[in-house]
Amino acid sequence: MAKIRTAVFPVAGRGTRFLPATKASPKEMLPIVDKPLIQYAAEEALAAGAEKLVFITGSAKRAIEDHFDSNQELEQELEAQGKRDLLDAVRGIVPSYASCIYIRQPAPLGLGHAVLCSRPAVGNEPFFIHLADDLIDAEEACLAQMARAFESRNASILGVETVAADQTDKYGIVAAEPVEGRLSLVKRIVEKPKPQDAPSNLAVVGRYLLTPAVYDKLATIGRGAGGEIQLTDGIAALMNDEAVYAYAFEGRRYDCGSKLGYLEATVEFGLKHANLGDQFADYLARLVATRLRG
Ligand code: UTP
Repeated sequence: MAKIRTAVFPVAGRGTRFLPATKASPKEMLPIVDKPLIQYAAEEALAAGAEKLVFITGSAKRAIEDHFDSNQELEQELEAQGKRDLLDAVRGIVPSYASCIYIRQPAPLGLGHAVLCSRPAVGNEPFFIHLADDLIDAEEACLAQMARAFESRNASILGVETVAADQTDKYGIVAAEPVEGRLSLVKRIVEKPKPQDAPSNLAVVGRYLLTPAVYDKLATIGRGAGGEIQLTDGIAALMNDEAVYAYAFEGRRYDCGSKLGYLEATVEFGLKHANLGDQFADYLARLVATRLRG
C-alpha cells in the first residue's frame, strides 16, 4: 500500500439538512451508536496509514477539537472509578504517533475552498480527503483500498459508487473507461448534473486521493455551481494535465448527511455492536412483529 501521510477532513459546512441538531453542534459529531462520525473518519484514515489529520473547521465546530484533545479531568475521574474500558476508549481516540492540525475556513465558500485551506499543512505530496458524513463500512478501509490502487498508477483517485439514475443531481458524476478490476480512467466529471444531463450514474462519494497539483487548480478556478468553489471543478482542471482514476470501492456506504442514511447506519451499526447487537436485534424483531400484527 502506498504511504499517504496526510488526510484532510473538511468539516466547515453548515449541515443544514440536520437542523436544528446542527445549529450549535457539528454534523460530524453526530454519533453512530457510541462514536461520532468524525471518529469513524479518523479511524479510516489511520487504518490507511495517515499520520497527520488535518481538519478544516468553521464556526460552531469547536467540539471536534475537544473530541480529539485529551481531557485530563475526565480521565482522572474514570481512573478513580476503575472504569478501565471507558478510560481506554477515551484515551485511544487518536494514537500518540498521529498529529491533529486544525485550520479555520474563514467562510463556507465551498468544498474546493475548504480543501485549498489545507495546502499549508499538506505541502507537496499526495493526500487523502475524507468527508465524514459518507460513512463506509468495508472489510478493508476504503482509503486503504484507494492507497493500494494509487501504488500502481501514481495518479489521483476518486472513490465512486453507482447511484440511482434520479440521484445524479446530488453528486459529482464521472464518465469513465474501465482500466482493470475496480479502477477506471475518468474522462469527464460534472458537478450535480440533472438526470437527463448526467454522463453516467457513477457518483463520486466522500473519498479522494489527490496529487498536490490540484491546489494550483483550486486557487485559480473561481466560483462554480451555487457560487461556491467546487472541488469537482478543481479535479476537472487537473484532468487537463494529469490522469485521474475512479475506484469503485468495496463496502457499504451510508449517507449520514441525510436523515434516512443516518438512521440506516444507526440500525446496522447497532446490530453489529459487540455488546448491544443481540439485544438490539431482539428488540427490532419484536417491534417489526408488533407492527405487522397491528
Ligand atoms: P455538504 O454539501 O454536505 O454541505 O458539504 P454541508 O454544509 O456539510 O451539509 P448540508 O448540505 O447543508 O446539510 C460536503 C462536505 O464539504 C464540507 C462539509 O463540511 C462536508 O464535509 N464543506 C462544505 C466545507 O468544509 N466547507 C464548505 O464551504 C462547504
